[in-house]
Amino acid sequence: MYRSHTCGELRIKNVQETVILAGWVQTIRKFGSITFIDLRDRYGVTQLLFGEELNKQLDENPLGREYVLQVKGIVTERSNKNKNIATGDIEITVNELSILNKSAIPPFTISDETDGGDDVRMKYRYLDLRRNAVKKNLELRYAVSRSTRNYLHENNFMDIETPFLIKSTPEGARDFVVPSRMNPGQFYALPQSPQTFKQLLMVSGYDRYYQIVKCFRDEDLRADRQPEFTQIDCEMSFVEQEDILNMFEGLVKRIFKDVKNIDYTDTVERMTWEDAMWNFGNDKPDIRFGMQLLNIKKPASVYINKKDQPELVSGADFKVFDEAETVIAIAVPGCSEYSRKQTDEITEWVKRPQIGMKGLVFIKCNLDGTFKSSVDKFYSEEKLKAIATAANAKTGDLILILAGAEERTRKASSELRLEMGKRLGYRKDDEFKLLWVLDFPLFEYAEEENRWVARHHPFTSPKPSDIDTMINNSPVITDASKYLEHPYANIKANAYDMVLNGNEIGGGSIRIFQRPLQEKMFEALGMDEAEQQHKFGFLLGAFEYGAPPHGGLAFGFDRLCAIIGGSESIRDFIAFPKNNSGRDVMLDAPSTIDAKQFDELQIKLDLK
Ligand code: AMO
Repeated sequence: MYRSHTCGELRIKNVQETVILAGWVQTIRKFGSITFIDLRDRYGVTQLLFGEELNKQLDENPLGREYVLQVKGIVTERSNKNKNIATGDIEITVNELSILNKSAIPPFTISDETDGGDDVRMKYRYLDLRRNAVKKNLELRYAVSRSTRNYLHENNFMDIETPFLIKSTPEGARDFVVPSRMNPGQFYALPQSPQTFKQLLMVSGYDRYYQIVKCFRDEDLRADRQPEFTQIDCEMSFVEQEDILNMFEGLVKRIFKDVKNIDYTDTVERMTWEDAMWNFGNDKPDIRFGMQLLNIKKPASVYINKKDQPELVSGADFKVFDEAETVIAIAVPGCSEYSRKQTDEITEWVKRPQIGMKGLVFIKCNLDGTFKSSVDKFYSEEKLKAIATAANAKTGDLILILAGAEERTRKASSELRLEMGKRLGYRKDDEFKLLWVLDFPLFEYAEEENRWVARHHPFTSPKPSDIDTMINNSPVITDASKYLEHPYANIKANAYDMVLNGNEIGGGSIRIFQRPLQEKMFEALGMDEAEQQHKFGFLLGAFEYGAPPHGGLAFGFDRLCAIIGGSESIRDFIAFPKNNSGRDVMLDAPSTIDAKQFDELQIKLDLK
């Protein structure tokens, strides 16, 4: 028996018991002829007391941090209790010690407040994983996974594995490819998601499928993206959008309850994609706070079909606004008394290359009821008041205004709103707000290729009311400058995203399940018949054999865990993550392979 108890288990009620513990040396404190050691394992820390006798042994064979010990001793009440740890009332008076293994001096301190930088901790990830903070994240991940499995099992979902060595499944990223030795010159693709397999499972009659599954995407990385990540992937047959939304808000509410003991009783809000873009400037709004964007100039042409835009700023000889495609105002509550230094600082913030604006206009809604702005020369107090009223600004608010090209300005306004929300403390880690974003456009315009691409993926169905538009119109765009006027630009998808605190945690759609419409979709994306057959012949074939109506969605499991855990970085919730260049610095992967391996694959490397 290596141990009778864990290092997190013993309490005052165990006093006088003889116990055996095993674990790692956290700290060593020597006081004359006695030594205290904190012994750590996955479950906690227990203080060990080495008396005079054993101290001699320690003098001869000194211990070091992270040594692996086994000790036998008696549980004793501590005179100097430590209220900060669960075992703080007791210590073990050790009478037998064996060193199970030595440890080199670790490259950083393994404690909550570590001195190790990101790179060194990634290189020695197996040591970083010993730290409490990281362990807590993995425990949370496991709790989310357990809760998910329980809920889905109770709702008749069946966990079915799907292959990793497959043919490309387009999800908008590049594929990772794997050469086949047995089929020289041919490659498998790693799945960007199990999308086509789960649809085939519906054709096979497994009407509720799920899988907590790895997906692989070769795309540019960010804090919330990894080249391999995990999805909670689900699909259901004989359902409409409403069934899916209900089932999966149920799942997230269950996770909140099981993992955080939060009763999420609010109805999950719903918003159309157009409203999200118009009022928040992006398709995943953080609705924990207001400060919605107000569009104060009628733009010439926008990708959002808003006919009722107010026109509040044009024609006052202020060039910046007159020449801008879009002018957007945000009323920031309670900041009218910002100093010059503070407004300058926000101006600098929007000028950063990541935001890319040329400047910022502001209006102060002073506490005495007057208005003061950086454009007083052009706008009367009456006009400023009209803007303030339209922006829902109250006395004491500071209105920030951005102007410029449509997409950039909308995006920058969205970023500015989030930044001000953060600065004012409206974005709390422990407050959770779910939102469904609905009615996405089915297509996106790809400028370089002058064609349509699927906004979600090619298996997403159009809204029933838009099917005729899709079937009866050619996808060809004759005049690229007028692509917004093409009938396809207005086709809406049967697609939905779930947003949590401003992050897209999941997305899915009701699928196309009839061969002719699927063929039309592929054609709309520029695939001729031969290409359709080559890439998706198996799916088109399956649709000939009684495919049921079906739909589903996938959650970004790592993202969901990170947000529930109060972090925006998914790396903290993955045991062995990659760095921002997609490298595993611990393994030093990717790396070159042996000449022999190339020979076997019949591949000759000729790097450009
Ligand atoms: P989608 O591509 O929207 O849909 O992916 C679903 C969710 O997965 C998460 N996600 C990621 N997480 C970490 N790193 C990445 N690189 C990454 N990419 C995506 C996001 C996203 O919402 N097959 C469809 C789902 C469906 O239609 O059922 C799909 O994969 O949280």
